[in-house]
Amino acid sequence: MLRRVLLSASRNQSVARIVRTAPVSRDVVRRFVAGETTESAVAATEDLVAAGLTVSLDHLGEDTRDVAAATGVVKAYVELLSALDAHGLTGGAEVSVKLSAIGQALDDAMCLDHAMQIIDAATRAGTTVTFDMEDHTTTDATLDTLGTVRKEHPQTGAVIQAYLRRSAADVEDLIRSKARVRLCKGAYKEPESVAYTSRKEVDLAYVRLMVRLLEDGAYPMLATHDPRLVAIGESLATRLQRVPASYEFQMLYGIRPVEQRRLAAAGHRVRVYVPYGEEWYGYLMRRLAERPANLAFFLRALATTT
Ligand code: FDA
Repeated sequence: MLRRVLLSASRNQSVARIVRTAPVSRDVVRRFVAGETTESAVAATEDLVAAGLTVSLDHLGEDTRDVAAATGVVKAYVELLSALDAHGLTGGAEVSVKLSAIGQALDDAMCLDHAMQIIDAATRAGTTVTFDMEDHTTTDATLDTLGTVRKEHPQTGAVIQAYLRRSAADVEDLIRSKARVRLCKGAYKEPESVAYTSRKEVDLAYVRLMVRLLEDGAYPMLATHDPRLVAIGESLATRLQRVPASYEFQMLYGIRPVEQRRLAAAGHRVRVYVPYGEEWYGYLMRRLAERPANLAFFLRALATTT
C-alpha cells in the first residue's frame, strides 16, 4: 500500500514541488545522490574507484517532454564522459541512460540520434553505455533502440526487470545476441497483467533469470541489494565457473556500502550506480518506496528541522 502511494507520488508534480522545496530535502538526498554537478559526480567516482569499486553514472531526469531539455541531458552526458576521461576514470566508470530523458516520448528518430551522441562520446572516452529500463509501456521501444545501436556498438548494455512476465523471453533474445544484461527486480508500479506483484514471485523470477544469464549470458550484471539473491548469485557464479571479469554485482549509491566493499574484497567486480543532477525527485521516491527504513530516515530528517 505504502509502496503504491510513494510510486504514485514519484510521478505527481504537486507532491514533487512540496518535496523539492522542503528545506531538508537536499540533505536527505545526499545519502542517495552524489550531488548536482559534473564535478560532484567525478569526485564520487574517484572515491569509489579508489575503494576498488566500479561505477555507472546516471544523470538524473526522466519523462522529458521538450526538445531543449532532452538536448540538455545529452550535453550533460557528453560533458561528464569527457570529464571522466580527463580524470583517467573511464577504465572504472560507464554511464546509464534513461531513454525517456533524451526524448523517447517525443520522437523515436531524435531519441536514437541522442543515444548515438552519448554512445559516440562514451566510445571516444573508452567506456560504455547501459540503457536503463523504465515502465512497461516503454520496454519494446527501449529494446528496439538497443537493437539498433548494438549493430554498431554491441557493447551497449540492456536492463531486464525480473517482475515483468515477458522478461524470460527477452532474456533469451539478449543471451542470443550476446548483450551485457543488468538484471534488477524492477522499480515501477506495474499492473498484475504484465508483472508479478508478490515479493515471492518476483524473487523466484529473479533467480530463474539469474541462472539463465550466468549459464549462457555474455556478461550478466546482477543488480540487487537482496542478501538472499546476492548469496545465490555468488554461489552460482562459483558453481558455473564464471571468471571474475565475466560478470558483476551492482548496487545503488548509498545502499549497503559495506556489502559493496565485502563483495569486491571477495574478488567479485562490483559496480555502484551513482545518480547525480538536479532532477532527483522521481529517483528518491522510488528508493523510499522500496524500503520503509529509507522512508523513516527521510521523515526523521524532516521532523528534526521543522
Ligand atoms: P528489495 O528492495 O526487494 O530489498 C530486498 C532486501 O534487500 C531487503 O529486504 C533488505 O534485506 C535488503 N536491502 C534493501 N535495501 C537495503 C538497504 N538500504 N540497507 C540494507 N539492506 C537493504 N529498476 C528499474 O526498474 N530499472 C532500472 O534500470 C534499474 N536499474 C538499477 C540499477 C542498479 C545498479 C540497481 C541496484 C537497481 C536498479 N533498479 C532499476 C532498481 C531495482 O529494480 C529495484 O527497485 C531495487 O534495486 C530494489 O530491489 P532489490 O533487489 O535491491 O531488493
